[in-house]
Amino acid sequence: MKVHVNPELCQGHNRCIVLAPSLFTADEEGFSTENGDGTVPDDQRGKAELAVDNCPEQAISLIHD
Ligand code: F3S
Repeated sequence: MKVHVNPELCQGHNRCIVLAPSLFTADEEGFSTENGDGTVPDDQRGKAELAVDNCPEQAISLIHD
């Protein structure tokens, strides 16, 4: 599973970073991007799903293997 932040939708609410700090990083303007290639370790899957569910802009997508 991978996560991906759509930069055209992200408005910098930062909930993803609070809920799954190992999966996302904010840039200097507060917008989020996935870390690395977005791969979600098995023990982070719940957090990835939480981030998706809590992004007010629905900017985060999950890509299933
Ligand atoms: Fe952006 Fe949504 Fe995270 S708006 S900073 S992807 S909670």
